[in-house]
Parts: sequence; C-alpha cells; structure tokens
Amino acid sequence: MMVYLNGKLIDETAACISFDDRGFLFADGVYEVVHIYSRQFFEWDRHMARLQRSLEGIYLPHVDNDELTQGALTLLDRFDGDEGMLYLQITRGVHPRSHAFPPQDVAPTILMWIRPHQSFSAETIQQGVSVITVADDRWAKVWIKTIGLLPNVLAKEKAHKLGVFDAVFVRDGMVTEATSANIFIVRQGVLQTHPVTNYILPGITREVVLELARDRQMPISLEPFSVEEMYLAEEVFLTGTTTEILPVTQVDNKRIGTQAGGVSVSLLEALRQRAYSVS
Ligand SMILES: Cc1ncc(COP(=O)(O)O)c(C=O)c1O
Repeated sequence: MMVYLNGKLIDETAACISFDDRGFLFADGVYEVVHIYSRQFFEWDRHMARLQRSLEGIYLPHVDNDELTQGALTLLDRFDGDEGMLYLQITRGVHPRSHAFPPQDVAPTILMWIRPHQSFSAETIQQGVSVITVADDRWAKVWIKTIGLLPNVLAKEKAHKLGVFDAVFVRDGMVTEATSANIFIVRQGVLQTHPVTNYILPGITREVVLELARDRQMPISLEPFSVEEMYLAEEVFLTGTTTEILPVTQVDNKRIGTQAGGVSVSLLEALRQRAYSVS
C-alpha cells in the first residue's frame, strides 16, 4: 500500500516517523476520516472545514487545504477499490521532547492513507447492535478531532469485554455520543440528538442526517437527552463516517423499541442514495 507522508507518496514499508514526533509523544495532533463511495470522497469540503477548525483548536498554523486535497486525490488514483476510507492525520511535527510548542519553523507531519472499507451487512443493520453506557470522562474540548483517543479506546474495550458493540458516553446524566459516532434517538416521533457544544464531536454524518430528516419534514430536537429517555426511546441509532447509520436495539441490557428502527433504516437508505448520487 502507498501512503502519503509529508508531500510524498511512498510505500508503507518505507514510511518512517521519528520517535520525537509530537503525535507519538503527546498525541499533539488532529485527524479526519473520509468515506469514499464509488471512488469519490463524501462531503470532502465539510471534512476539510472541520479539520481547519481542529487545527485552530490546537493552535497549529494553517495547513494548505489544496495541498491536502491534491495528496488525497493522488492516493485515490492509486486505490483500486470502489469503497474505502481515507485517514488523514496532522501532528505538530518533530522536535526534541518538551511540552512547550516547538519553534514556528518546525513543519507539521502530514500522513494519509486509503484502505478498503466494508459497510455493515444488511443483517447487522436489521438486528441492530447492543451498547453500554459509561461515564464521559473525556476532556472539555471534545469538538476538536484530536488523535488523543485513549478515553474512547478504553470505553470501546470495556464494551467489547462485555460482549457488546460500543459504549455511549454520559455526562451529568445526559447522553453525549458514542466512542466513534454520534447518537440519535426517536422519541414520540421526534428525532433527537445532542446539540453541538464542547462536549461532542460535530459529526459530518450527524449534519447530513439532520439535513435528510429536515428534507423529510421530520420533527427534530437538538436538546440533550437522559439515559432514561434513551431507554424509553422508540429507536436509538449511531451515526458516523465509518458507521453510517447503525440501529441500536439494546442499551445496558434493555431492549429498545420493538424492532430495528424504521426511521433509522429509511435514513440510512437516504444517506446511501445521497452518497452514491453525488459520486
Ligand atoms: C467521538 C466521535 N463522535 C462522532 C463521530 C462521528 O463523526 P463523523 O460523522 O464526522 O464521522 C466520530 C467519528 O470518528 C467520533 O470519533
């Protein structure tokens, strides 16, 4: 596989990153993941806009979007599948370890690759997945898409150890999001998800789902919801670039609704229709 590293396409076996890279030492970097449908990047501009916000959030000087786009397109040219994922990571570069930022002339490390991606099977979507709730012990700048994902990793591992698909974070009794996805409920016919605050990642898929729901005149509420409200919801589903829209049919061992949701499945159809029609 070829990867893009600091302006060059190189074989993955030749790609080396210094142990002094601040991404490695401090998780001092940000990332994006972009879904490729029919060999086209889905919602590229939105991903690039969020990346720039994340870069501003960690005070990393502007990285040229055109250069990133060119690099991503070159990788896409070499990719021989139809569906895949682009991973893009930018760190504050290489400098002898010291907490303070290095001088301004230290170049960021820019790394990208594309790997094939398999969406969830129709069977998984129909059955839905199970999740647990966990305390949201992450920092207060969750809106930055930082590579520092240890709380998410630990929560996901806890879920897997308990034999369920994912963990859902709860802060002050209110549900924020999952370890790598946003979360929606349908309650009395109203689609509800956490508002964009410091405490969630403003998901691109979340935005697209809200647009699709508005197009369908579905009532929407952008108010936080409690764990109890989630237990009583007609539907619960996760949204994300790799997740797309994934029904949740069990939370903390409690069955949600009566079947893998009509709303989530119809929104997933609409999402895929949009993804394949723009590509
Ligand atoms: C913590 C978290 N929330 C939400 C999302 C969903 O964001 P998006 O739809 O942009 O993939 C992700 C995606 O990686 C995530 O890591």
